[in-house]
Amino acid sequence: MAEKIIIDTDPGQDDALAILLALASPELDVLGIVAAAGNVPLSLTNVNIRKICELAGRPDIKVFAGCSQPMDGALVTAEHVHGATGLDGADLPEPTMPLQDQHGVDFIIETLRNEQAGTVTICTLGPLTNLGKALAKEPEIAGRIRQIVLMGGGCFEGGNITPAAEFNIYVDPQAAAVVFGSGVPIVMMPLDVTHKTLTTRARVEAIRRIGGHFSEVLVGWLDYFERFDVAKYGSEGGPLHDPNVIAYLLKPELYSGRLCNVEIETESELTKGMTVTDWWGVSGRPKNAMFMRDVDADGFYALLTERVAALAGRQAGARAEAT
Ligand code: RIB
Ligand code: CA
Repeated sequence: MAEKIIIDTDPGQDDALAILLALASPELDVLGIVAAAGNVPLSLTNVNIRKICELAGRPDIKVFAGCSQPMDGALVTAEHVHGATGLDGADLPEPTMPLQDQHGVDFIIETLRNEQAGTVTICTLGPLTNLGKALAKEPEIAGRIRQIVLMGGGCFEGGNITPAAEFNIYVDPQAAAVVFGSGVPIVMMPLDVTHKTLTTRARVEAIRRIGGHFSEVLVGWLDYFERFDVAKYGSEGGPLHDPNVIAYLLKPELYSGRLCNVEIETESELTKGMTVTDWWGVSGRPKNAMFMRDVDADGFYALLTERVAALAGRQAGARAEAT
């Protein structure tokens, strides 16, 4: 039985690879994809998701627009990392598949009400506004969520948008505080893990060797996406953050971490958005999140490359049949 998931995302080149990995994996049943405002505004992320679905040959996927602003304050975006479109590095045609009329927050609530309790996993790849709003609007859905697997936060790695905060949490710390206080089982993929899955040249070349239009798009995204972090960290390649959320669902054995208390700083201007992680268990506060700290990076890239290659092959076959 495929695992039912909802993906909430702010594409973003790394989000795109995560969505493609999910759509390439028969173990997962993507019930819907909800656009979040984050890397770029909602007006672009909802389009980007549909471009990615059409690239994957999946115009059937239900795509919803979520909230355009965080719970509190103004939206902070990251065009400096992802480019003006959010998917700079490759040009894809404007999508023809529809955007659903239903608001993404209501889709999350309705799906959790209609599906058997404890069977739907929420995968968040961007700011937590939509999930936070859904939990605030209908608190009883918390007991119906199987687990939340989220890319966000950091501890020993510090922050990336400020010295203290990782971008997804920083954009909407109030929503993050609702999610981390919900009691739903949480698996965190923080910077401590994602900074270990770098887009090294060998890994990018393995994706390039898939060949065809599909891999050209992916390599274009990776080449564009990594330039900011390579310049910032002096690393060989950039951290491919979001696909770690999907890879965990497919191969949890790639990851190791510790159940910890994680609280969100929402007040201090200096440290807002910080995920205060009690790794050493000194606070006595409830352990509300599995904080992943280590990953088999080669195993991660082997899985990602194998799955997107299979998807590319199916796409090439479909195009050949169509001509
Ligand atoms: O801090 C990295 C996260 O912020 C990733 O999800 C990236 O896509 C951006 O949303
Ligand atoms: Ca993202």
